[in-house]
Amino acid sequence: MANESANETARNIGPVILLGPPGAGKGTQSKQIVDRYGVPQISTGDLLRDHVGRGTELGLEAKAIMARGELVPDELMYGIVATRLREADCQRGFVLDGFPRTAAQAGWLDAFLEKEVFDNRSDKREKCPPVVIQLLVDYTQLLLRLTGRRSCPTCGRLYNIHSQPPLVDELCDVDGSKLVIRDDDRESVISGRLAAYETQTRRVADYYRAQRRLVAIHADRPMAEVTAQIFGVIGRRFQGGCQ
Ligand code: AP5
Repeated sequence: MANESANETARNIGPVILLGPPGAGKGTQSKQIVDRYGVPQISTGDLLRDHVGRGTELGLEAKAIMARGELVPDELMYGIVATRLREADCQRGFVLDGFPRTAAQAGWLDAFLEKEVFDNRSDKREKCPPVVIQLLVDYTQLLLRLTGRRSCPTCGRLYNIHSQPPLVDELCDVDGSKLVIRDDDRESVISGRLAAYETQTRRVADYYRAQRRLVAIHADRPMAEVTAQIFGVIGRRFQGGCQ
């Protein structure tokens, strides 16, 4: 078992894109991929919230947009994603959580990977195009997940008061911190986020479907079952040449 796990964390898994509406479980499942394969999670929502928290120029611009549940303009996203993808820990692969979110972002990502990732590889291994996994969850379940979400401000662990409550009400199991509700998990903002998904992000699924790269899975199942489906999809890519 220890050997199997060591093998997984040495593998080149390439880019993995988790696509899905707010509350579909992108963050939850990204953490499982991180644990198994030892590649970083790149959550554009977390990157933006970090900028908002630090009060950077980008953060000041993004704050009001995020508070309305709308998408931050594509041009503002490219710089932070490019900077993060150029970091050394992304070499064996990475999980994109929340990016791309528009068809333009998907096109930008393809061009970026081609130019800056695949062409620069010194080891001449097979290039691994992104595995794109779409998490399908129905609307009622999404609402329950978003309104019930709590997170630890210290360690980032996610909870849900309906499906995954902490052992002690409102306190993190790991470090005892008081759990917080995300600003945009208020019902008035959730409707805007779901609308942005319908009008802009669904097209990203169409983009990858047309390239025959989209794998849709039933993400309304219990977390461990969803994880097993995702590991199955990633595992199949090794049979396609990525090692
Ligand atoms: P972002 O932070 O990306 O939020 P999101 O896409 O709305 O997704 P969430 O984080 O809400 O949900 P999730 O799918 O990760 O679900 P989770 O695992 O937490 O974006 C925030 C904002 O930033 C955007 O609105 C936009 O303004 C901006 N932004 C970000 N990226 C951008 C981009 N590329 N371009 C432009 N703007 C951008 O799970 C949710 C809950 O469900 C948790 O409580 C969890 O415990 C529970 N749960 C998970 N799986 C299960 C399961 N199988 N069964 C039961 N409960 C489950």
